[in-house]
Amino acid sequence: MKAIQCNDFGPLEALTLETIDDPTVDDDSALIDILAAGVNFPDGLLVQGKYQVKPATPFVPGMELCGTVSQIGKNVSNVSVGDRIIATSANFGAFAEKIALPATQLITIPETIEPTAACNLLVAHGTAHHALKQRAQLQPNENLLVLGAAGGTGLAAVQVGKAMGATVIAAASTDEKLKFAKNNGADHVINYNDANLKDAIREHTNGRGADVIYDPVGGEVFDSSVRAMAPNGRFLVIGFASGTIPKFPTNLALVKELSLVGVFWGAFVKREPALFADNMKELIDWYETENVSVQIDKIFSLADAASAMHHVMNRQVLGKVAITIGES
Ligand SMILES: NC(=O)c1ccc[n+]([C@@H]2O[C@H](COP(=O)([O-])OP(=O)(O)OC[C@H]3O[C@@H](n4cnc5c(N)ncnc54)[C@H](OP(=O)(O)O)[C@@H]3O)[C@@H](O)[C@H]2O)c1
Repeated sequence: MKAIQCNDFGPLEALTLETIDDPTVDDDSALIDILAAGVNFPDGLLVQGKYQVKPATPFVPGMELCGTVSQIGKNVSNVSVGDRIIATSANFGAFAEKIALPATQLITIPETIEPTAACNLLVAHGTAHHALKQRAQLQPNENLLVLGAAGGTGLAAVQVGKAMGATVIAAASTDEKLKFAKNNGADHVINYNDANLKDAIREHTNGRGADVIYDPVGGEVFDSSVRAMAPNGRFLVIGFASGTIPKFPTNLALVKELSLVGVFWGAFVKREPALFADNMKELIDWYETENVSVQIDKIFSLADAASAMHHVMNRQVLGKVAITIGES
């Protein structure tokens, strides 16, 4: 099969499209013909050796996919050959024509959902949903501030926050990104390159501050926004796309009874598979009832996977990027 290979940790340009052996199934797994894969910021970190997980090289990047089951092991009963599925591949393996995965990791989906959209419901929306529902326990009518609100998981948080009944304030670096977030349901927007973020948050919350902050960015926007939280606020640590890991002022936690809440969706998926399955069922229902959507900025071919990853990592992407692989 054809696959993108990372032979050594390093720049995205060093990735190569190679022909490698097809994966094989064991009694409990299924072989998937991949139709499309989603691209996420962590894919680039993983290839560069900057992610919290470091697979042995060589490896095939890509952590979310949609495909068709083409073979099953003898103990597999939850899927059949021909089923359309989505799955997270636990960090790597999706930028390829085929993948073998434990059958329990596969989620059957209707064929009415386009593969490029279906694969992209996992990492970005899955993280936003788990973060806002289980980690922050976001309540209807609370103020939710989303930083990096036009990126993959930021835009998903805008949509999921609205689906949960919150008032959503989207913050991003350009007016184009803010217009995009507004078109995806944001109630208020803040351009953090122009405005004083702390003052703007207070203005949009009638002086109260944000009840929940969703932060995939880190750095300066963390420093300003954490100072505009409401009492009992929950600050969700999602990622550090800015490249800077901020420091949390614990004096604020004391005075305002704030909580700093970590989110690691990949670990949650492994640790709590039943709850993950419930979450994905709710997300797929929300997708079908148009409470959430997948906004695809650009579609790339498998051979162009490095360009797809650059597009995500270079602060250009509006929503998500997909790679089409098989006959989708
Ligand atoms: N904790 C988890 O379980 C989990 C799951 C998924 C992703 N993540 C993390 O979340 C972060 C975002 O992932 P994503 O896939 O949503 O990425 P993305 O689509 O590229 O969005 C990242 C956003 O960060 C902002 N940003 C600020 N400075 C940046 C810089 N120097 N370079 C790039 N972007 C910058 C950009 O928004 P503006 O231009 O508007 O500032 C951009 O839209 C990553 O750190 C990723 O590792 C964590």
